[in-house]
Amino acid sequence: RDAALMVVGEAPGAEEDRRGEPFVGPAGQLLNAMLRAIGFERDEVFIANVLKCRPPNNRDPSGEEAAACSGYLERQIALTRPRALLAVGRISAQWLLKSDRPVGRLRGQVHRYGDLPLVVTYHPAYLLRTPLAKAKSWQDLCMVRSLMQEPASGPGSPARV
Ligand code: URA
Repeated sequence: RDAALMVVGEAPGAEEDRRGEPFVGPAGQLLNAMLRAIGFERDEVFIANVLKCRPPNNRDPSGEEAAACSGYLERQIALTRPRALLAVGRISAQWLLKSDRPVGRLRGQVHRYGDLPLVVTYHPAYLLRTPLAKAKSWQDLCMVRSLMQEPASGPGSPARV
């Protein structure tokens, strides 16, 4: 609940649905390594998905499905009050930023989600298929790491909802 960083992915896969835990497959292993590279153990980070259950046949979530789950995600963010959000992949980035730009256009800068800084990077499943994109993703992770090193905004600790 006190996580400084919240990662938001797309939707659970088959294994995640079975275990009730996000990012437990090969993409999850890579996500763990990415987090460790910027100084976080997995259990220090709140990992969530836009969708709370798996779309049939692993298809992309529809806007309607994301909207149906959005109250849950918004509440997770409000309760956790992380210092920063990391959106991994197109579905999460576009949903949180209400944008239709591709990840390649959204990554590489600090956005805002309400008053929280939000960084976009490639989905770890994409990075497994496209290892050359890892260099760009590393730049995004470094941006997250430097957000963590900035003093928390506002006096005292951030307000909790
Ligand atoms: N991909 C996601 O976006 N989320 C998961 O939990 C697993 C794979």
